[in-house]
Amino acid sequence: MTTVSGARTRTSFNKNWKFFLGDEPGAKSPVYSDLKWRRLTLPHDWSIEGEFDEKNPAKPEGGGLPTGIGWYRKEFTAPADFQNRLITIEFDGVYKNSEVWINGHYLGKRPYGYSSFSYEISKFLKPGKNIIAVKVDNSAQPDSRWYSGSGIYRNVWLTSTSKVAVAKWGVFVTADASGKVDIQTQIQNKTLKSQSVIVVSLIYDTSGKLIIKNKPQLVNVDISGAIIKGNLEVKNPILWSVENPYQYKLLIQILQNGKVIDTYETKFGIRSFNFDAEKGFSLNEKPMKILGVCLHHDLGALGAAVNVRAMERQLEIMKAMGVNAIRTAHNPPAPEFLDLCDKMGFLVMDEAFDMWAKKKTKNDYHLNFPEWHQRDLEDMIKRDRNHPSIILWSIGNEIREQFDSTGIAITKKLVGIVKNLDKTRPVLSALTETDAKKNFIYQANALDIYGLNYNHKLYKDFPKNYPGVKFLATETTSALETRGFYDTADTIRRWPKDGKTKFTEGNAAWSASSYDNVSAYWGSTHEETWKEAKKYEHVSGLFVWTGFDYLGEPLPYPWPARSSYFGIVDLAGFPKDSYYLYQSEWTNKPVLHILPHWNWEPGKSVEVWAYYNSADEVELYLNGKSLGKKSKQGNDLHVLWNVDFVPGTLKAVSRKNGKDVLIREVKTAGAAAKIELMADRKNIKADGKDLSFVTIRILDAAGNLVPDADHLVEFKVEGSGFIAGVDNGFQASLEPFKANHRKAFHGLCLAILQSTEKSGSIKLTATSNGLSSSSITINTGK
Ligand code: GAL
Repeated sequence: MTTVSGARTRTSFNKNWKFFLGDEPGAKSPVYSDLKWRRLTLPHDWSIEGEFDEKNPAKPEGGGLPTGIGWYRKEFTAPADFQNRLITIEFDGVYKNSEVWINGHYLGKRPYGYSSFSYEISKFLKPGKNIIAVKVDNSAQPDSRWYSGSGIYRNVWLTSTSKVAVAKWGVFVTADASGKVDIQTQIQNKTLKSQSVIVVSLIYDTSGKLIIKNKPQLVNVDISGAIIKGNLEVKNPILWSVENPYQYKLLIQILQNGKVIDTYETKFGIRSFNFDAEKGFSLNEKPMKILGVCLHHDLGALGAAVNVRAMERQLEIMKAMGVNAIRTAHNPPAPEFLDLCDKMGFLVMDEAFDMWAKKKTKNDYHLNFPEWHQRDLEDMIKRDRNHPSIILWSIGNEIREQFDSTGIAITKKLVGIVKNLDKTRPVLSALTETDAKKNFIYQANALDIYGLNYNHKLYKDFPKNYPGVKFLATETTSALETRGFYDTADTIRRWPKDGKTKFTEGNAAWSASSYDNVSAYWGSTHEETWKEAKKYEHVSGLFVWTGFDYLGEPLPYPWPARSSYFGIVDLAGFPKDSYYLYQSEWTNKPVLHILPHWNWEPGKSVEVWAYYNSADEVELYLNGKSLGKKSKQGNDLHVLWNVDFVPGTLKAVSRKNGKDVLIREVKTAGAAAKIELMADRKNIKADGKDLSFVTIRILDAAGNLVPDADHLVEFKVEGSGFIAGVDNGFQASLEPFKANHRKAFHGLCLAILQSTEKSGSIKLTATSNGLSSSSITINTGK
């Protein structure tokens, strides 16, 4: 690593780590020999590499994968000029209880696995070789209601600055829609005397053109640092919105003796928003409903290990469905996730905690809350408050203190912590106690918005019951679905049916129907909640539980179920049918989607559903014969036909004013004959990180997807890449995610290819007994 004196550098510190799974207390010592340890590149999640086992202490609720203690070590060369510099090691997140040593000196501990933290290491460095050791302790289980992952699962950075420099997260920019930009900058001074410096603020547009710069300010920074405030005006600003997520760049430069000694970059957006008790949400004075989903942080087969492309793909899939907002359930996300939301145009509800002092699971964060909540919450706000995407701070999800008078004081304290650092965004908590008089978090009278989880039947009368109170459905639905699995029922099923009865329903396929007819008893089907949320202006928006299936919380099924059924998209990233319900409602893109597949026992009466928009009616044909036209009546969100199954072709045509809009066909598939491979991207970067997601489809000889195909597919990879993970979206599969094989599930599976740093190509060949094989080539380049 090279540092130019004066300039700030921030270098990835992910490479050349050594890892040992198990406790090895001696490893903190610089003289410890780690020769036998495994070499790896961060981000790393050791849990996802392990085997599913019901006996794993994380339990199925935590994903059923191993946890434990792990050690990481890295030998590195100190930057040549370190004695005159401030060198900081930054961890975006380590799950959990990390402890860090440098050259045997203890730097500190960070219990909360979702916080970003850093240590200044300059004074412990020595010329030449240095050793960082990190202990990660995720052994006290169960500690989470979902899969957390274990290890240094987010990025690590090494930052070098001059001794007088902008402090970490030291810039706070706020802007109003007229273009008035207020800037607050915290400067630190780690020399032993006061320093006179000149501070300049410069704003650039997205093309990199300087648009405004302030008059240089002369500042005296004493050894306790300085906070300076300034403002600039951007004339005719381009506003940040979900359609046009326009960002400006602010540079803070510090100069001394005519030389730039620090440059600190912050991206920001100019936008206004408002929550109104009667009219709901508006962005830049334009009314819009928040059409959100909740997302946990895991990336399916990649586990918790951060990968920007994997996060971007999730967001692309959500965007195409019409989603305009994400709730980071129930913890601060990776910083890159928020950068993507800024860039791609998503609103974000950034959430701090799933529990306070009262526990949800035995070893969860309640143990650390008393000592750490202030620090963790402050750090989240300071880290995240410049993101234009963030419009809401959540201080907690379904917190137990709702039901307990201690909730009042804690709520007031947490809201105070947030407001002290950011007064520009509302603060809420996702509540479940619906009687405000009994809800101690609400009784604190400190929240800006009533955030209600579930209880969609209460939306209607909310304004009557809570006059003047702003309202957001912070979590909704919890419908249960397995991609490609269908069974009809006369009534909607609630699995489980209440909080007392043991769950005995379910089916041998360990699946839940994709007809949107199953939900948890506290939730609803997708249609039930959306019908209510769309009806009332005062409902600012909703966050559906969840956009994607996630590891852990496999409710309602017991083992071997190990991931959730709540997603609108399965764990592999394949949409379930309700994806198209939302797409038909939340986008203007013409949609026509029919379900189910067309392989049934002859004579069986099958419900055929169609989700559609941009049309007055849909006509269904079976083998060329019309089964009638249907159109949505009243608040219907789909149309349906009862059809006696005959093999052949089912065809739906949507029409507007008599003209065809879209045609969809589904054919009875014959025996499986071949494999088809489809990559989401055929050209990726040779940076050792980029991914190509390859979908494997099992087809019959005529090219129809075989809907019950569950063939074992074997993969061979050649060239400059490797398989980062495999999946098929089945919630009860115990096959490993790190493998060169996967069974198809309802005709599909996924192989995630990752590039190396060598340019070239990656050839993936997929074979399966009795099927003709297939291969695909992905190009990788600089
Ligand atoms: C909610 C909770 C979520 C998830 C969901 C499942 O009550 O906030 O974290 O557990 O239920 O339906």
